[in-house]
Amino acid sequence: MYFKNSVAAIIVIFAIIFGTKTFFSNLVHVGYNDNLTVAERIKPLGQVYLEGDIDVNAIKAPVKTAAKARSGEEVYTSVCASCHAVGVLSAPKFGNKADWAPRVKRGIADLVKVAITGTGAMPPKGTCMDCSDDELKAAIEHMIK
Ligand code: HEC
Repeated sequence: MYFKNSVAAIIVIFAIIFGTKTFFSNLVHVGYNDNLTVAERIKPLGQVYLEGDIDVNAIKAPVKTAAKARSGEEVYTSVCASCHAVGVLSAPKFGNKADWAPRVKRGIADLVKVAITGTGAMPPKGTCMDCSDDELKAAIEHMIK
């Protein structure tokens, strides 16, 4: 009788221990090899992309109009022609060899320099303030052709 009770008591004790463990591990629900979900839960809200991480060319950048250099003809037609087409204020006329010959002798670099600073009635940069030096040079080369 005594032995039978002991066995029953041991079974009950084991049942309580096992049941408690199962109950709490289900309640908390954290596995030992839960690295994936842990990484997912503690990951930062934002990420920084460094050059090379992604194909930056795939992102379409807004097209900057000034980025592409205008041709000498474009600059001449839109800006310089207002004076240089007919020789306003005795500006050297477009394609007029007699007007340009003495100036061309000084060299294109000097003409560009003078065009940037302006001289006499010739305004600085010929009023094309957003023109690059190269664009001014191209416009001059177009005019002296
Ligand atoms: C408002 C009128 C006007 C505009 C616009 C103008 N020019 Fe002139 N430009 C002149 C006049 C006037 C001269 C003659 C200046 C002088 O020799 O005293 C001249 C002279 C020049 C010369 C010769 C300078 C020298 O050293 O003899 C160059 C080069 C020139 N212009 C380039 C340009 C270019 C390039 C543009 C356009 C981006 C331009 N100009 C726009 C009036 C103008």
